[in-house]
Amino acid sequence: MRVVVVGTGHVGLPTAATLAEFEHDVIGVDEDEEKIRGLQRGAIPFFEPGLAELVERGARRGRLRFSVDAAEAIQSAEVVFLCVGTPARESGDANLVAVERSARGIAPHLSLGVIVVKKSTVPAGTAQRLRQVLRMSRPDLAEDIEVVSNPEFLREGQAVEDSFHPDRILVGARSERGFETMRRLYEPLIRGGAKLIETDIETAELAKHASNAFLALKVSYANALARVCELAGADVTAVADVMGSDPRIGRAFLDAGLGWGGYCFPKDLQAFDRLSSRLGYDFGLLREVERINDEAIDAAVEKVRDALWNLEDKRIALLGLSFKPRTDDVRLSPALSLARRLIAEGAATVGYDPEAGANAKSEMPDLEVAPSVYDALDGAHCMVVCTDWDEFRSIDLPRAKELLAHPIIVDGRNMFDPHVMRAHGFVYYGTGRAALSEVG
Ligand code: UGA
Repeated sequence: MRVVVVGTGHVGLPTAATLAEFEHDVIGVDEDEEKIRGLQRGAIPFFEPGLAELVERGARRGRLRFSVDAAEAIQSAEVVFLCVGTPARESGDANLVAVERSARGIAPHLSLGVIVVKKSTVPAGTAQRLRQVLRMSRPDLAEDIEVVSNPEFLREGQAVEDSFHPDRILVGARSERGFETMRRLYEPLIRGGAKLIETDIETAELAKHASNAFLALKVSYANALARVCELAGADVTAVADVMGSDPRIGRAFLDAGLGWGGYCFPKDLQAFDRLSSRLGYDFGLLREVERINDEAIDAAVEKVRDALWNLEDKRIALLGLSFKPRTDDVRLSPALSLARRLIAEGAATVGYDPEAGANAKSEMPDLEVAPSVYDALDGAHCMVVCTDWDEFRSIDLPRAKELLAHPIIVDGRNMFDPHVMRAHGFVYYGTGRAALSEVG
């Protein structure tokens, strides 16, 4: 099928490259011309494992190209995907300006029978709006314009893997033509056994917000539990293992730590809360989930303070700056929230990240960024693990101890075994685990 993907970010680019792999003819367009010119040269605008290879393969096989001439691309498209950003407004509502703008942008060029697929995460009711905008712009096509909701569940850092092995493909549509088109698009995945769930449009839209909010809730549950475990002398990881053995609960997303961040959970949780409230339901639980998430940063600051007493004149090494491993995305990263708090209290912070150093520096110029873990640790009074990159598992512990001014570790992701840390002579603070003095 001839497909155009509007928006070449974390959602649009993996989507375009995956569809090209399924033998569709895909053109990626974006209002950012520079980004498109870069993609034409093979420059991927962000770090996502495996994506550069996939894009290169699609381009080499002639299935994937990028164009600055959106009009020409859209004219011949059978399917147009909208994958533009839906950031949060000050109020917490989803800002749908880019969605509307892209709809108005494509409308004049749509041809008869086209299906517009909305992949961006949006509040329930947005497809209805989109349909109105498209139909008003193109009265000649009117009833023939079909809007389909196909929320994505890709995780940053695993987007390529998730694209080829999705745990579900969700399609919300109003007509058999919409469902049929989506079945054709995803045929290789469906043939391979991927679960296809077909619903009405509002259900599909809402299910995406409901899923992200529930995952955030699980993490916040683990973080609240961590606080109680610390007080009770229990180990939150072991508690999570016990809970997770029950298939009704599941082990995933019960890892306590510095909390959730990134581009999706924070804005989606707020947008879902705002949507519920505008519809007439006060979903207070969602605000509590957010409050517990903020508390996770407070708890980490408290541990650093407990370890170092006054934070003025102290240098703190932050390991990991991205909001999670395997991405260079620092948007609403808990690591940067922690850095801001420590700096506000008078500490100097030095961070290291395998991929996100440059992004972190441009987001937070007063954060020093080191070129390696050991450069970050050199002379620091304390090391805080903020993001669980695999690289940190193999840190040379004797060398780290030698470099640090004080051998103190605040493990914000429970990466290390407290007993091993103690054996190496570190003062170890985990999350939801007894502190070093009580371990053993
Ligand atoms: C999330 C969802 O997982 C995807 O299904 C969804 O498609 C995506 O949002 C989206 O809406 O676009 P992502 O933002 O990439 O994906 O991140 P997650 O892997 O869900 O992690 C979110 C945050 O929770 C990270 O900061 C992570 O460190 C934190 N987390 C996760 C924990 O603190 N503990 C856990 O046990 C799991």
